[in-house]
Amino acid sequence: MRDSTVYDCTLLRLPRVEADGGIITSLNSGSDLAFEIQRVYYLYDVPAGAVRGGHAHKELRQLIVAGSGSFAVVLHDGSKRRAVSLNRPDVGLLIVPGIWRELEEFSSGSVCLVLASEPYRESDYIRDFAAFCAAKHAGGSDKMN
Ligand code: TYD
Repeated sequence: MRDSTVYDCTLLRLPRVEADGGIITSLNSGSDLAFEIQRVYYLYDVPAGAVRGGHAHKELRQLIVAGSGSFAVVLHDGSKRRAVSLNRPDVGLLIVPGIWRELEEFSSGSVCLVLASEPYRESDYIRDFAAFCAAKHAGGSDKMN
């Protein structure tokens, strides 16, 4: 995890089943996603100007999708920053472990859908950016744990 970079986080085109009545996007663990989905959560009613996230995860993998509307995901790996805009439900951002993220610029009515590889565990969070950067720069593969 110490070696993960913002460029290991990839944008995925998600499958679409199109019909006259609309579109279905279906995500299956193992085939459409490289991890088993253990949890789904979503952010909504985010007030204008709010910033969510502000943490990294030690083990968690996530696919983040703009289910509705748009928002920006700002990634940081302790050295490099990368901003990704999400604005369509058939594109997801895969975030690997050991990446700091902040979510911002939520449009009115937007929904941030998150598919996660682990149940919620506070012990998997790193919520101090200075400690995160220090751990990313430190030697030893277990320094984030
Ligand atoms: P947090 O992950 O910090 O939110 P965000 O990254 O969107 O800003 O979680 C905020 C609060 O919600 C925290 O007290 C823990 C709780 N929470 C759960 O109970 N279960 C969950 O699956 C998540 C993601 C958060």
